[in-house]
Amino acid sequence: MNVTYHQNYRRTRGTPIIRNFLSEVHIRSDQLIQPFFIKEGLQQEQEITALSGQKQHTIDSLQRAIEDALLHGVKSFLLFIVPSEEKKREREFDYDFDISVIKKLKDSFGRNIFLWCDVCLCSNTLSGHCGFLLQDTQGVQGIPSIDNHQTVLELCRKSLLYAQAGADGIAPSDMMDDRVAAIRDTLDQNQLHHKLLMSYSAKFASNFYGPFRAAANSSPASGDRKSYQLDYTHTFDAIRCAIRDLQQGADVLMVKPAGIYLDIIYRLKYQQSETAGKIPIAAYQVSGEYQALKLLAQSGLANFDSAYFESLCAIKRAGADLIITYGATLGAKLSS
Ligand code: PBG
Repeated sequence: MNVTYHQNYRRTRGTPIIRNFLSEVHIRSDQLIQPFFIKEGLQQEQEITALSGQKQHTIDSLQRAIEDALLHGVKSFLLFIVPSEEKKREREFDYDFDISVIKKLKDSFGRNIFLWCDVCLCSNTLSGHCGFLLQDTQGVQGIPSIDNHQTVLELCRKSLLYAQAGADGIAPSDMMDDRVAAIRDTLDQNQLHHKLLMSYSAKFASNFYGPFRAAANSSPASGDRKSYQLDYTHTFDAIRCAIRDLQQGADVLMVKPAGIYLDIIYRLKYQQSETAGKIPIAAYQVSGEYQALKLLAQSGLANFDSAYFESLCAIKRAGADLIITYGATLGAKLSS
């Protein structure tokens, strides 16, 4: 007998049924987190041209979008609350609107949703930086320096107000040192032990945040974010930040961006002994990654749904438990 073909690997790729029953990666709607933007002072929802299909919501349009997501099994949301330009100029750190939004959403949806709130200062500061600038110095080589201590105090205040208003989870995205311990402590001292903390632990100073910054009106007026966000050539820094956040009480660690940092996701999930198997990993497919796929599809060079689903599967395969993605509702549809 001639046994030349005894290693026929193509056998397991023959039909959709075979391919599907051998599938190792599954996208689950309850592990997708949909980011939403709500902007103060809007009379009507507005398309975000930089981020196809996404909107600056009013409270009414946001409630409708949440209802639609719930229909498809997406129950977790990451909320970005953007102050109006006028208010920002007049009162930089006034969270009255934020509190009313969170209260309204929790009044309407209660425990049917899990509401993560992004906590950072970049939408609130006139400088567009994620923290307060040190007044008395031009920083290193003219680049503005951030006052870590004052910034962390404000992040704690904001987190507390959000949690008291009903946020289920706080997601600090500022990258200041030791903010996880400080926020955890603040919540615990105010009997908010049950509120989750998802830390943007490995957040890189990335070129892929452009569409978001247009949406959140949060571009730095001068300089860049490289003195607080991670350098993408420094793997060690991402790893030690993640370990520190876990030690300081984070419930979920996040890697951001996702699709071009799969190695970091994989390391934290499977390889790094301090984190592997010890804490869930979230990955944030950021605005530029998402929009890149949109543009590819708009140029007729790929089918969006199919390319998008592939991108989610790659992030899952690398080890992400949770995926934050602008297409969460679509991802849920595609996975069912
Ligand atoms: C705020 C923040 C940013 C993103 C999430 N929170 C922008 C930034 O750090 O400049 C980016 C999200 C995205 O691009 O989708 N600090």
